[in-house]
Amino acid sequence: MCGSPVERAGRTLRCRQRHSFDVARQGYVNLLHARIPAGTADTTPMVEARSAFLASGAYTPLADAVAAAAGTPTGLIVDAGAGPGYYLSRVLDAAPSAVGLALDVSAVALRRAARAHPRLGAVVWNLWEPWPVADGVADVVLDVFSPRNAGEFHRVLAPGGTLVVAAPLPGHLAELGELVLTVDERKEHRLEATLGAHFTRESVTEVVHTAPFTARQVHDVVAMGPAGFHLDRDDRRERLLAAPAREVTLAATVSVWRRNA
Ligand SMILES: C[S@@+](CC[C@H](N)C(=O)[O-])C[C@H]1O[C@@H](n2cnc3c(N)ncnc32)[C@H](O)[C@@H]1O
Ligand SMILES: [Zn+2]
Repeated sequence: MCGSPVERAGRTLRCRQRHSFDVARQGYVNLLHARIPAGTADTTPMVEARSAFLASGAYTPLADAVAAAAGTPTGLIVDAGAGPGYYLSRVLDAAPSAVGLALDVSAVALRRAARAHPRLGAVVWNLWEPWPVADGVADVVLDVFSPRNAGEFHRVLAPGGTLVVAAPLPGHLAELGELVLTVDERKEHRLEATLGAHFTRESVTEVVHTAPFTARQVHDVVAMGPAGFHLDRDDRRERLLAAPAREVTLAATVSVWRRNA
């Protein structure tokens, strides 16, 4: 609210101006002070679907690529749009002296993130607002399928810091047809356009992996994505629950970007 640093006293964060925020029983802190439009924060059914789906191991190849791209930082790792904290936990496992900050506008998701790893803190926040993170303090910023605020990525990263971005490729989940929303064909181009002013791309890894999905995985992967906001209309959830098992392709890029001075 005022931009001053906060200190922790028991279960409360407090600044010099006496703004204070309680740590929720589930371990996250909600710093939001504005209302967020509906259809922004992942809802409880979406978060449940995402957690179940990620726990099934179907996206292990992506988690491996994200962890490899992040390396072994020793300081702060900020995960923008961390959801339940799956990728950040993987990176923290590989970096035993690092600490993680999960930012997400969904408190439901952060309840999960707060429990996902002992070195992970979770803060409810809108990524399109200036982040509650000081200048130049992060070694790594992760962004996995989440909104990308290039100016804030740049501001919070230390000089020479690393940005790791995972974004879907056009063939992503192609076998699910109109059950999912299609990936914008120009996504890669857009990545360069949004990040290019602040970052230089160092590497791109394509993760393309086709595997059999159970009917449950088909449901969960659809319900955890943007389509999840609309499943309670008509008989959409029933139709999705009836969708058969099939092979499904995960297709994404994991790119590493170096912060320009
Ligand atoms: C596709 S999910 C990805 C979550 C996580 N990175 C993963 O891959 O499991 C996008 C996430 O961004 C969050 N999100 C969407 N808009 C946001 C915003 N404006 N500020 C913060 N988080 C936002 C959603 O709540 C959701 O958790
Ligand atoms: Zn304050």
